[in-house]
Amino acid sequence: MDKLVIRGGNPLLGTVRVSGAKNAALPAMAAALLTEEPVILENIPQVRDIETTRKLLAAMGVEVELGYGRAQHRTTLCCRNLAAPEASYELVKTMRASTLVLGPLVARCGRARVSLPGGCAIGARPIDLHIHGLERLGAKITQDHGYVEATADRLKGAEIIFDRITVTGTEDLLMAATLAEGETVLENCAREPEVADLADLLNKMGARITGAGTATIRVQGVSKLHGAKHRIIPDRIEASTFLIAGALTGGDINIAGCDPNHLGTLLEKLEEIGVKTRRTAESVRVMGDGPFRSADIVTEEYPGFPTDVQAQYMALATQAEGTSVISEHIFENRFMHAQELVRMGANIKIEGRRAIVRGRTPLSAAAVLASDLRASASLVLAALVADGETIIDRVYHIDRGYEHIEEKLRGVGAQIRRIGDMFPKGQGAGSSA
Ligand code: EPZ
Repeated sequence: MDKLVIRGGNPLLGTVRVSGAKNAALPAMAAALLTEEPVILENIPQVRDIETTRKLLAAMGVEVELGYGRAQHRTTLCCRNLAAPEASYELVKTMRASTLVLGPLVARCGRARVSLPGGCAIGARPIDLHIHGLERLGAKITQDHGYVEATADRLKGAEIIFDRITVTGTEDLLMAATLAEGETVLENCAREPEVADLADLLNKMGARITGAGTATIRVQGVSKLHGAKHRIIPDRIEASTFLIAGALTGGDINIAGCDPNHLGTLLEKLEEIGVKTRRTAESVRVMGDGPFRSADIVTEEYPGFPTDVQAQYMALATQAEGTSVISEHIFENRFMHAQELVRMGANIKIEGRRAIVRGRTPLSAAAVLASDLRASASLVLAALVADGETIIDRVYHIDRGYEHIEEKLRGVGAQIRRIGDMFPKGQGAGSSA
């Protein structure tokens, strides 16, 4: 199993380019299931979750063509024949987002069989809201042997009010509703840019969706969707990670190819703690010259502070003067990185869903363990300012969602390299996302 070795102390300088958003690419690939014509997706990040989705779709009979060379970020999916509308436990257990195929499969094939995901490192993460919504659209749902099976002749439009805001739940039902008969109104929807990006793709495929990106989405069902070409939006979580890297290391980096409109809450927070940023239409420059103050954050649904940036912010908070209270409101168990940061010298106390970080504490290199995707990013950030050489184990987590992280960081001056495991323990890939 690979490890990352990072020697801290270098301020990051230069330009780093952001990849396409993993969490927009995953539903976009699932959306291709809704039509028998080719769907061409540009700006697909080369990360492991995309490869898992490719395997998942290929197992159903989808033709997936990956681009090479200059077209390496293009993927063409053609779902002419769906031999087996199923998502097996083997794949769902390594990537929870596999449940995104449930809605499109039942809408297109009238039948879907998808493994229930079970809990993961960051929380219980049930899919009851997906299931309840599909029932409202007229699907008959049964559950046995760890699988959920949905059947329907044709889904029927309905009003669905989400009990709580769910990103992939909104996306799953949005996809299902495109082929339902009549109008569907989804209330209390996730407003994440990834939801709006999916709706954009679906509309290009002939769907009739309005309101995506707001709490109420209306869908006029159509009988058929067609092929389309679509460019995935930039990854706001990757951009946020680089913003924090620039601030934390006292660097000066230009984060190119991002959408600053999607980074509002973090940019405001950075300003509050004394980090200078400058935005253009498609980039943000971050200048981390000088000490910064502590500030509290509360994770919330978009446009609030993203839970996917909470771990990275915690690394930053260890280097701020004063006490920062970090409240995690989305997932019940997303502080696994805290103990590893403490091993590197941070002063962090966990009280239920709050982490109290007292800074500034010097960090020192240690051997640490990545527990999930964003926790790994947090440890990479801490290592960039730690004294000595940090070794981060289980970096397969980071490979799920960050494209060529070490090349990108090396490009702006970080001392980072990847090594293979000399004593493999035979452990498999972890689950999450
Ligand atoms: C998406 O997960 C993202 N994944 C996650 O990205 C992200 O952390 C999360 O949204 C929150 O922003 C993808 O987009 C592929 P939710 P999702 O349904 O959709 C509860 C990353 O690091 N809930 O919005 O699975 C749930 O337990 C990650 O890239 C139910 O109770 O998250 C959680 O507490 C990991 N019942 C809350 O809602 C349901 O049926 C929000 O979860 C569904 C969710």
